[in-house]
Amino acid sequence: MLESVAAPMPESCFRRLHALLEGVEPPPGVAPIHLHVGDPQHAPPAFALERVAEAAPRFGRYAPTGGTPELRTAIADWLRWRYHLPQGMLDPARHVLPVAGIRESMFLGTLLAMRDGSGRPGPAAMAIPNPFYHCYLGAAVTLGAEPVMVPAGREQGFLPDLDALDRATLGRLRAFFLCSPANPQGVVAGLPYLERLIRLAREHRFVVLVDECYAEVYVDRPPPGAMEACARLGGDTDRVLVFHSLSKRSNLPGFRSGFVAGDPALVRDFLALREVGGVAIPEPIQIASAALWRDEAHVEASRALYREKFELAARMLGNRFGFFMPEGGMFLWLEVGDSVEAARRLWAEAGVRVMPGRYMSEASPDGTYPGDDFLRVALVPDLDTTREGLGRIAATLG
Ligand SMILES: Cc1ncc(COP(=O)(O)O)c(C=O)c1O
Repeated sequence: MLESVAAPMPESCFRRLHALLEGVEPPPGVAPIHLHVGDPQHAPPAFALERVAEAAPRFGRYAPTGGTPELRTAIADWLRWRYHLPQGMLDPARHVLPVAGIRESMFLGTLLAMRDGSGRPGPAAMAIPNPFYHCYLGAAVTLGAEPVMVPAGREQGFLPDLDALDRATLGRLRAFFLCSPANPQGVVAGLPYLERLIRLAREHRFVVLVDECYAEVYVDRPPPGAMEACARLGGDTDRVLVFHSLSKRSNLPGFRSGFVAGDPALVRDFLALREVGGVAIPEPIQIASAALWRDEAHVEASRALYREKFELAARMLGNRFGFFMPEGGMFLWLEVGDSVEAARRLWAEAGVRVMPGRYMSEASPDGTYPGDDFLRVALVPDLDTTREGLGRIAATLG
């Protein structure tokens, strides 16, 4: 029997929710509604599935791990268009790498960030927004880095508070995770925030890993991104990696298709790492992915469906639970008091499954959990189911 010397792996919020609700049944005759997981349920674009079918014989061979030139070019063109980047800023061959979904790739990005330890004082640390998407903490703990939880509660405007990090901690950081639009709170980091973070990273030699997978799901204005901030800082992508995914943009979580872009030295090492230990996106999926990055119509249609649901939520809950309209993403972040008890009650009394904010946060130094009083509600089902779910939440937690 091998003895583990590592710190225990943090349990994902989904495991914890499963354990909380095990043996608890919704009332008889009440159809369950699942609003706990950000699993997109709008129809995937039919043209993408047709492309896969046409290219199906290519499943019979290994695909290029670095992605086809067509896919890399489609991604670079999309980034340039979406973030108003100067023509020469991104070279598809050097700055862009298609990856098989971004959860695993953010994990691998952390591995690369950990390799650059030259001359650093003290134990390696990684900054993680608190509350957070579970991959970030899992990566830090697995790699033996000290997770530095950066408060992102209501008092901080739900964005990780950069002033909370002193110079000694900044000097130990290897990576800073940022999620914008944020899962779970739905806030967006503006360009001044992004520029400040990138400047800090360059001064203190850590890597900024920006999870922008919700960049295309927004109500009003397209959220700015870290590549745009790099452009404003002169066009260099040093020490910055952004992560995008077709899971949310194109309602294709099963495709496992996304990309990482930014610092060419990191992108080069990323490819080397993937070539020894990663998987390539299958070629039919790469062909369809290139077509998806070149199409905005399906993205706009899906965004309109989310907008309808957010407007419905504002009408139904607008004066309760500290409701605010998220700037991006697919979640409501409702203030309800004890989030674990609220989630248990909603399942037991109303058959609605939601995610307690407690399970998406770690204890602050004062022992409190920044997500403790909040529920994350994923507006992923169709409009009628969403209406029914929100109605049950309002009636139960009133
Ligand atoms: C914040 C965040 N990042 C990443 C992911 C995973 O993206 P992918 O499907 O590309 O692995 C999710 C999925 O829920 C997410 O919420």
